[in-house]
This record gives sequence, structure tokens and C-alpha cells, in this order.
Amino acid sequence: MAGYFIKLFLIFIIGCTYVESATTPVPRCIGPTLENGIVQCSRKDQILTCNGACNTGYIFYTGAKEVGLTCNYSTGAWKTSDTFPECIPDRCLTHLLPNVSDSAITASSAFSQSKSLYFGADRGRLDSKIERVGSAYYSGGWKADINTLEQYIQVELNSTMLIRGVVTQGRSVLSEDSANEYVTQYRILYSADGYTWQPYSSRQVNDQFLPGNNDTITKVVNILTCPFKARFVRINPLAWHENIALRFDLLGCDPSSYSEYHDSPTPTARPTNLCQPLPPPSNGMMHCEKQVGVLSCVSNCVDKYKFDTDEMIIQKVCNQSTGVWNGGEGLPRCIYNTALEPQPPAHNYTNGCVGLKKECDSAGNGDFQACAGCRFFSTCSEGYLYIRACPEALLFDAVSRLCDYRSRSCPVA
Ligand SMILES: *[C@@H]1O[C@H](CO)[C@@H](O)[C@H](O)[C@H]1NC(C)=O
Ligand SMILES: *[C@@H]1O[C@H](CO)[C@@H](O)[C@H](O)[C@H]1NC(C)=O
Ligand SMILES: *[C@@H]1O[C@H](CO)[C@@H](O)[C@H](O)[C@H]1NC(C)=O
Ligand SMILES: *[C@@H]1O[C@H](CO)[C@@H](O)[C@H](O)[C@H]1NC(C)=O
Ligand SMILES: *[C@@H]1O[C@H](CO)[C@@H](O)[C@H](O)[C@H]1NC(C)=O
Ligand SMILES: *[C@@H]1O[C@H](CO)[C@@H](O)[C@H](O)[C@H]1NC(C)=O
Repeated sequence: MAGYFIKLFLIFIIGCTYVESATTPVPRCIGPTLENGIVQCSRKDQILTCNGACNTGYIFYTGAKEVGLTCNYSTGAWKTSDTFPECIPDRCLTHLLPNVSDSAITASSAFSQSKSLYFGADRGRLDSKIERVGSAYYSGGWKADINTLEQYIQVELNSTMLIRGVVTQGRSVLSEDSANEYVTQYRILYSADGYTWQPYSSRQVNDQFLPGNNDTITKVVNILTCPFKARFVRINPLAWHENIALRFDLLGCDPSSYSEYHDSPTPTARPTNLCQPLPPPSNGMMHCEKQVGVLSCVSNCVDKYKFDTDEMIIQKVCNQSTGVWNGGEGLPRCIYNTALEPQPPAHNYTNGCVGLKKECDSAGNGDFQACAGCRFFSTCSEGYLYIRACPEALLFDAVSRLCDYRSRSCPVA
């Protein structure tokens, strides 16, 4: 348990500089929390399954929409990972290459053994296709003249930009061409002047290698956990299929339009982590999220089960500065629901309510009134349902889709 929090704390204080990894976390089945996201854990027999989704306006830095983790109660071991990828603001992810001229895209070399087809660096833009202009043919991608680790393609941006991501693609060919060329791993180098280059480093690794493509068509997005500012950005292929050839783009924005960026964060206060997410009851679910000063956990039973107290949803709140749960940590049991009819909604909600996972399919992604009461709302994310509680004293207003002091969709008598 100590290891888990030490790791979180280090991530918070070290920011984007490389350090040796912290102590190995002691495995145990406690659902992880997710900053700027919501975690829902459910328990079936000995298996704890936790799904995470980022709040509206945030995305997982891996580009994944939804992430699932599982833990085996009998071993205490998490199957793939015991933490979720970080949720980052879904902003400052504009394609940057459309704004630069062809002459700003250069490369270490360009394939010269074909007299009929041009493979220059300016062919390396994302989605570039084979083109014919008069008698000249232009390749759907940049291709290096030789396959060595010194090869690169680079861009000089019109001004210093904040770089938050890289997209790569293999080389596009005509259907009769059997070439199958793409870069499977690369590194990023960046520079302010085009002379002094620095390798991109993540929080975990100095000079981070990034995964590239598996085919010639699919775009692979790498969102950078440590965004950087640069005028020049270079892609250096490290591994490839057949030959070094690619198409690429950078994702980012003008640094002045993205204030959350900081080179070396200087934390002012130690984060307090006295509250740990509560485990869900057997045949139940638990959704925990950090709110101002508290960890809020909302629990309900899975389909065909209900609490033996007849409550639909139970909220527990833990004070982050004392570590104390209101009403204790204990939850009622989920018992098999022998009633044939599902429970009716707790109110006559103006805009209806979303209470079941399958209702997310027709509702789509977003926040909706939950059926259990005016304080609760349902977040649908990629087919998953997360039942959440508004912060203390607030009600969910389905019109603004926010927690507010009054609710137009759920007027309380
Ligand atoms: C959980 O771990 C135990 C002990 O290793 C194993 O026997 C069991 O099959 C595991 N359960 C699942 C669902 O993987
Ligand atoms: C691209 O150029 C246009 C026109 O100058 C400008 O409005 C836009 O903000 C630029 N986009 C980026 C991402 O720099
Ligand atoms: C960037 O520079 C190129 C070449 O000078 C110019 O053609 C292009 O319009 C510029 N783009 C923006 C958005 O300023
Ligand atoms: C590439 O293919 C391998 C093997 O099929 C797979 O494990 C990996 O996730 C793929 N990578 C991407 C970026 O699709
Ligand atoms: C947490 O507990 C402290 C000490 O009792 C109290 O001052 C504070 O208001 C509580 N915070 C919340 C959010 O309830
Ligand atoms: C909702 O409205 C119907 C019809 O007006 C009424 O019969 C029912 O009791 C109401 N339900 C609640 C929970 O107020």
C-alpha cells in the first residue's frame, strides 16, 4: 500500500524529468483512482474488474477511449497494470503540418534508386497519396535512401509550438505495388535552432522510444505525457518493415493558448491520499472519484441484484484531510432480486433518466439524470455506465448537464 502512494507522489512531484523507478507496488485488489476521470469497479466471485473513463474534456494520453483492469482477489495481483493511464485535457491537439510549406519538411536522405518516382521529405505528410503531375510521379510517403539508424525526417515549424503528440503512417502504394513499408519504432528529437537536438523523454524513460506502425494505412497516435516546446521536430526511425518510409504529423498548438503546460512543476503542497477507494460488495459495483477535499464513492448492485436495505444507490464520502468515512465503510449486501419488476425511478424526471448500462446505447456519450435521485447522475462513456454523485448540497441539472444548486430536470418537492 505504501508503494502505491509513493509512486503516485513521485509522479506528481517529479513532473517531466527522468528518474529511476520507485519501489515496486505491493499488489492488492484496491481499485485505483483516476485524476480527471471516473473509475467503476465491480466484483464477481473472486475477480475485481475496474473500468476507467476520462471526464468530459479529457482523454487518456494513450488515445484509448476506455481502459479496463482486473485483479484476482485470491492472489491480489492485477492482470496487466494496477494504474490507469493519465487523463489529459482534450485540447491543444491540432495537426501542425498543414500550416508549414513543403520546403520546411526535410530529411537525412530520400530514395534515389527509382528514376520515375519522387520520394522526398515533403511527400511525408500524413495521408499523402501517389500523385502524377505531367510525366512525374510523387510517392505516397517519404522513403530514406538507405536503411540506417541515422535516418530522419524533420519539420521546421513557422514558430515555436507546444508539441503534444505525433501521428505516423506507413507509405501508401498503388494496389499493384507489393511494397509494404512502415516504421515500427521511432524516437523524437527536438530543437529550438535546428542545430542542438534533444531526445524526447517521458516521465519514466530518458530518450523514450515510441511505438510506430503495423501496416501502411493505419495512423498510430502517440500522445506525449511530457509535452515540449520546439521550433524543429525530428522523427528518427529505429525499427522498420522492409524499408524506412513513413508519413507523419505533429499534434499541438501555440504555447500561449495552453496555459496548463509547465516545464518543471513546483508543487506547493503534498497531495493528501488518506482515503482509499472502497471495494465493491460482492455482485455490486463501486464508482469512486475525487471531489473537492473528499473521495466520493457510489455503490449499486449489478443487474438482478439489489441491496438488502432496498436502497438503489449508496454514497460514502471520505474526508481527505482526516481519512474518515461518513457512516463508516460498511455496505449492505447485494442479494438476488426476486421481484420481477425493476424498481421505478425515484422521481418524475422532466427529461427521463438513465439507470441501466443498455440505456447508454441509445443515449450516447454524456452525462444524464440518474434514476436514483436528484443528486445522482449517469455518465455514459463508450457504452459503459458510471453512476456518480454531485458534490455535497448540489443537484444534477439535465439542462446544463452540470451539478448546480437547483435542478430544472429534477425539482425536489
Ligand atoms: C485467481 O488466482 C487463483 C490462484 O492463482 C487461480 O487458481 C484462479 O484461476 C484465478 N482466477 C482467475 C479467474 O483467473
Ligand atoms: C494555421 O494557420 C492559420 C492561418 O494563418 C491560423 O489561423 C491557424 O491558427 C494556424 N493553425 C495552427 C495550428 O497554428
Ligand atoms: C508558414 O510559413 C510558410 C513559408 O514561409 C508560409 O507559406 C505559410 O503561410 C506560413 N503559415 C502560417 C500559418 O503562418
Ligand atoms: C501491432 O501488432 C501487434 C501484433 O499483432 C500488436 O500486439 C500491437 O498491439 C500492434 N500495434 C499497434 C500499434 O496496432
Ligand atoms: C474534513 O475534516 C476537517 C476536520 O474535521 C474539516 O475541517 C473539513 O471541513 C472536512 N472537509 C470536508 C470537505 O468535509
Ligand atoms: C410520477 O407521475 C405519475 C403520474 O402522474 C404518478 O402516478 C407517480 O406517482 C409519480 N411518481 C413519483 C415518484 O412521483
